[in-house]
Amino acid sequence: MADPVVILGGSSFGAGELARLLTAHDGVERPILVSRSHAGSPVTSVHPHLESAYPDDRFVSQVDWSGLRGVSRIIVFSAMRAGELAGMLGSLETQWIGAGVDDRILLIDLSADFRLEEGRGFVYGLSEWMRGPLAGATRIANPGCFATALALGLVPLARELHPRDVSAVALTGSTGAGVTPGIRTHHPLRAHNCVPYHPFEHRHIGEVNRLLARQACTLDWSFIPYAAPWVRGISLTIEARFDEAPDQNRLATIFRTSYAGSPFVRWTETLPELTWIVGSNRCLIGGCCQGRRAALFVVLDNLVKGMAGQAIQNLNLASGWPEDRGLGQWVGPYPV
Ligand SMILES: NC(=O)c1ccc[n+]([C@@H]2O[C@H](COP(=O)([O-])OP(=O)(O)OC[C@H]3O[C@@H](n4cnc5c(N)ncnc54)[C@H](OP(=O)(O)O)[C@@H]3O)[C@@H](O)[C@H]2O)c1
Repeated sequence: MADPVVILGGSSFGAGELARLLTAHDGVERPILVSRSHAGSPVTSVHPHLESAYPDDRFVSQVDWSGLRGVSRIIVFSAMRAGELAGMLGSLETQWIGAGVDDRILLIDLSADFRLEEGRGFVYGLSEWMRGPLAGATRIANPGCFATALALGLVPLARELHPRDVSAVALTGSTGAGVTPGIRTHHPLRAHNCVPYHPFEHRHIGEVNRLLARQACTLDWSFIPYAAPWVRGISLTIEARFDEAPDQNRLATIFRTSYAGSPFVRWTETLPELTWIVGSNRCLIGGCCQGRRAALFVVLDNLVKGMAGQAIQNLNLASGWPEDRGLGQWVGPYPV
């Protein structure tokens, strides 16, 4: 039997992507989209791209949790802004207990609220490096989009090649800033522009450091993000310096081996480009060496592998389902 799905923050980009991707997932029911700002409005008024899949659906203001008492599991995705789930989780848990469904909730949070939390029972959901802890998890903190790209590149590098130091620079599209225009994200200020922000201090650095520590890796590294003029996708360059010249074939072998069982992460012979992954849950990594340096190039879609796609991947891992269930066919516009 398919599991019911509730999406909190239904008018977000994240909710729109979850709803799009879940149309292809046969393990779940059509999601209920909860929205404070758009309750009662047609889902298509915010997500017009979902017209064929959700022609008559409307956003709801709240969920009748008691009405879901008869099901064995309820999947709840939260795509609300940072701080919002943390502020309402206590009240939600009270509602779940009152409705008698608290023991069957799988909660996957897309925000940063519980990524660095100890003791709240959230598993950090960097799928490829957390498969064991994710199996059977009922609370999952989905990683940040930059953190996903960084971790997928840095963990194999640090584990196997022990670079002396590493500099990482990434450019991200405007959807990374969410639906509400701001002074740095409004289209006229962002189009035809490229803006560095939070150099050396972006909050995703903490997530990556925790994952590196979990993998027993020590790494001297820095990170500078840029707000880029395109709409979706992250292009990350990692430059690593070594005491001895690295070998290009070994670099390729390390990445191929590290992600051999991973359906969405692939080493490419040619250097990967952004348009090859947009819309899909894939992350492509390519690289080259010169002298004592190696450069890695990582591309992923911030809304998919960096958010909604990885959240569904984590649902699959938590459920013991094939990791690519419902995600396999979402390829980008160009085959590679
Ligand atoms: N965008 C990305 O690339 C990305 C990647 C990874 C993780 N994340 C994280 O995932 C979560 C969802 O991201 P998102 O970019 O999809 O979020 P978003 O588009 O910014 O929307 C978040 C929610 O905030 C509420 N909201 C929208 N405008 C508002 C306003 N003017 N005042 C108050 N509330 C407003 C809406 O909830 P209602 O529908 O209930 O009104 C909306 O669904 C965030 O925590 C984000 O940090 C984002």
